[in-house]
Amino acid sequence: MSSIPFFDLTRQYGQVGDQVNKAVLSVLSSQQFILGETVSRFEKKIADFLGASQAVGVASGTDALILLLKAAGLLPGDAVLVPSFTFYASASSICLAGGHPVWADVDENLYVVSPETLENALLSQCVRGSDGVFRTREGNFPVRGVVVVHLYGQMADMAPLAEWAASRGLWIVEDACQSIGARQNGKSAGALSRGAAYSFFPTKNLGGGGDGGLVTTEDGRVADRIRSLRVHGSRQRYIHEELGYNSRLDAIQAAILEAKLDFLRGWNDRRCILAKRYTEAFSGQDVFRIPRWREGGDSVYHQYTIAFRRPDKRDRVKKALSEAGIGTEIYYPVPQHRQMAFHPSSGTGLDVTDRLSASVLSLPVFPELTEAEQAQIVRVLMNVSQQGDV
Ligand SMILES: Cc1ncc(COP(=O)(O)O)c(C=O)c1O
Repeated sequence: MSSIPFFDLTRQYGQVGDQVNKAVLSVLSSQQFILGETVSRFEKKIADFLGASQAVGVASGTDALILLLKAAGLLPGDAVLVPSFTFYASASSICLAGGHPVWADVDENLYVVSPETLENALLSQCVRGSDGVFRTREGNFPVRGVVVVHLYGQMADMAPLAEWAASRGLWIVEDACQSIGARQNGKSAGALSRGAAYSFFPTKNLGGGGDGGLVTTEDGRVADRIRSLRVHGSRQRYIHEELGYNSRLDAIQAAILEAKLDFLRGWNDRRCILAKRYTEAFSGQDVFRIPRWREGGDSVYHQYTIAFRRPDKRDRVKKALSEAGIGTEIYYPVPQHRQMAFHPSSGTGLDVTDRLSASVLSLPVFPELTEAEQAQIVRVLMNVSQQGDV
C-alpha cells in the first residue's frame, strides 16, 4: 500500500513551479527586496480578490494580528475575548500587543465562537463596573475587544457577532489565517469588524516560500496605522511617531504569492470537492462526527476535521492510520487556556474546547490529493474506526 501524506507541497510546486520561479527571478533582477512596486501590486490584487478596500502586507500572520490589535485600539492592560480552541498565535498576539486573553468556548459542531459562547465567557470571568465596562475577575483588566477566529477555513457568522459585540461596547478583529477566500453571506472577513489578519505560512491555502501575512480592513485609519507600525512606527523616513516593528512582507514573498493567487480559487474549489466527498462517504456512521458547514457560508476547507464521540478512540485510530501509511494531524491537542505560556487554569467553563482537543482529527484535504488516495483514506478510516479494539 503506498503512503499518503497529510500535505505535499512538492505536488503544488510541480504545477506552479514555472510561474513561481519566474516571479522570484524578476525580483532578483530588480534587486528591490523591501516593499516597493511588487508588494504594492500584490496588495492591490489580493484586496480585489478578497473584496477588501485596503490590504497591507506584513511579515507573518502573527504580526498581522499584533499590528491589527494595536490599530484596532488595544492598549496595554486591556483584556480581549478569544477562543481557547485555536492556534496559539490567536491568543499570544493579544499578550504581545500588551493585552490579556479572556478564554471563550466554541460551538461544538462549527468549531468557532458564537454570541452565546462569548456572552458566557464575559459573564463567567468578568464583572460589570458602574461605568458599564466589564473587567476581568482576575487582574481587573477592562474588556475592550474580541478576536474571532475562522477556524479550519470556515467563517464564524459575523453579523450576529458584530451585533453582540456592539451591544457590549467591544470591537472585533478577525483571525482569518486559515480562511483566505472564505465568505459568509457574501462577505469576506474584515467586512464587519476593524479588520482581518491572514497568514501565508507555506501550508496555508495560499502559502508563500516562507513566512508572510496580511491585514485587510475597510477602515483607512487602521490601514494607515499598520503601514506605519510595519516600518518602525514611521510615516516619514527617520521620523518615528511611535514604537513600531520591522514587519514587512518581503518582495520575494509578494511575487510568489501573486503568481499563486491566480490558482487560489481553483485550489479552494478542489478542497471543497474533496470535503463534500468525505462528508458523503462518512454519513451513516456514528463513531465520529463530521464537520458541519454553515448555511450561507463558503468554507475554503483549510482542514477537514472530524471529532470522535469517544475521545480515547482518536489516538488509536490516528496510530492505525499512520501504520497504514496515512498522514493525519491534530489541530490542536492542547487548548490555549492550558498552555504554560498563558498561566494555565485561568479559564473556566471551557468544556467543549477540552472535549474537542481530545477528540478531533484532521484528514488530508490538500488540492492535489487524488481520488484514489481519498478512496483509500475513507476505506482504511471506516475499517479501523469500526473495529471494537481500536
Ligand atoms: C488560526 C491561526 N492564527 C494565527 C496563525 C499565525 O500565522 P503565522 O504562522 O503566519 O504567524 C496561524 C497560522 O499558523 C493560524 O492558523
